Amino acid sequence: MTPRSVILGCGSYLPDRVVSNEELAQRVDTTHDWIVERTGITQRHIAEDGQYTSDLAIAAAERAVEHAGIEVDDIDLVILATTTPDQTFPSTATKVQAALGMSNGAAFDIQAVCSGFLYGISTADAFIKSGQAKTVLLIGAETFSRILDWEDRTTCVLFGDGAGAVVMQASANGAAHGANEDAEPGQAGHNQERGVLSTHLHSDGKLNDLLYVDGGPSSTQTVGHVRMVGREVFRHAVTNLAAVVDEALEANGLERDDISWVVPHQANKRILDSTARKLGLPAERVITTVDRHANTSAASVPLALDAAVKDGRIKRGDLLLLEAMGGGLTWGSALVRW
Ligand code: ACO
Repeated sequence: MTPRSVILGCGSYLPDRVVSNEELAQRVDTTHDWIVERTGITQRHIAEDGQYTSDLAIAAAERAVEHAGIEVDDIDLVILATTTPDQTFPSTATKVQAALGMSNGAAFDIQAVCSGFLYGISTADAFIKSGQAKTVLLIGAETFSRILDWEDRTTCVLFGDGAGAVVMQASANGAAHGANEDAEPGQAGHNQERGVLSTHLHSDGKLNDLLYVDGGPSSTQTVGHVRMVGREVFRHAVTNLAAVVDEALEANGLERDDISWVVPHQANKRILDSTARKLGLPAERVITTVDRHANTSAASVPLALDAAVKDGRIKRGDLLLLEAMGGGLTWGSALVRW
């Protein structure tokens, strides 16, 4: 029987330093009202000098491990989604592995920009289903502030730093809700089992130029800064995200009304609202943290998930629809029975 990937617990971490829109308006030609009206963002957390992506990731990971009620030694794979690794190599995941005191298992980074956590959940699910891993620590962590051009008002107001993590484990009997354990996607019973029901990934490399960093080890030997054609990204986001939500529902024989909570990538409140409208989903069922966190790239979905789990909105048995789009362009969705 193919095991089911159950999310046992989650955790997150935000740097202490909060930067308001007003503070940004002292650095670039912008206003609090413009940022709120166009994006819904009121503040973002920014890492201190010397605080690295691995530091944020380790803090989130420790909280997720504690929430999951497992021992560090149970973990046999660490996957870390990030666009802002501590170094070009080694992977930031190996730094987390060392800090947690793990000496067994494997660790690697995933790069899919803001879709990184969705690519990570899909990869973790595949490792678990194939039997290559039993317990996966999946982290999304970013210090996006380090790749922003702080003189470019069209991008620097949009992003923040943070980290979120989940522990996923193989469960032979994910049928916590009286479901048919052997059911495949689309079959009766499959939908009711606890864990990841399905994941759906996409990319279109022809759209590299809409959202990218103008540097890199092989090209400029610099880190580079974020560049974006905001309007075009916005347009693709609404279309692609609505399509990948429907793709996930169709694959599982579910309807939009079956979704308890949408846990989306937090790029812009207007993208969240437009996507929800296109899907006919009430805004109250969309977990929103972009107002306080801004866009934390690969960290935004697990940060939003953790917020809604810890404040009690997400309950055991709820059906979660996770979705994200980012540079590449890349996009994806995952349906999870919590
Ligand atoms: N403050 C004040 N004015 C600004 C600012 C600012 N911070 N930024 C841009 N403007 C100005 C522009 O210069 C322009 O002025 P002009 O009309 O005189 O030329 C005007 O505001 C309108 O600019 P637009 O870019 O057309 O504004 P828009 O309504 O499209 O909003 C935004 C811009 C917020 C970037 C929007 O396009 C957006 O959110 N796009 C999606 C971005 C996104 O999701 N990115 C992340 C993807 S995930 C990842 O992988 C990183």
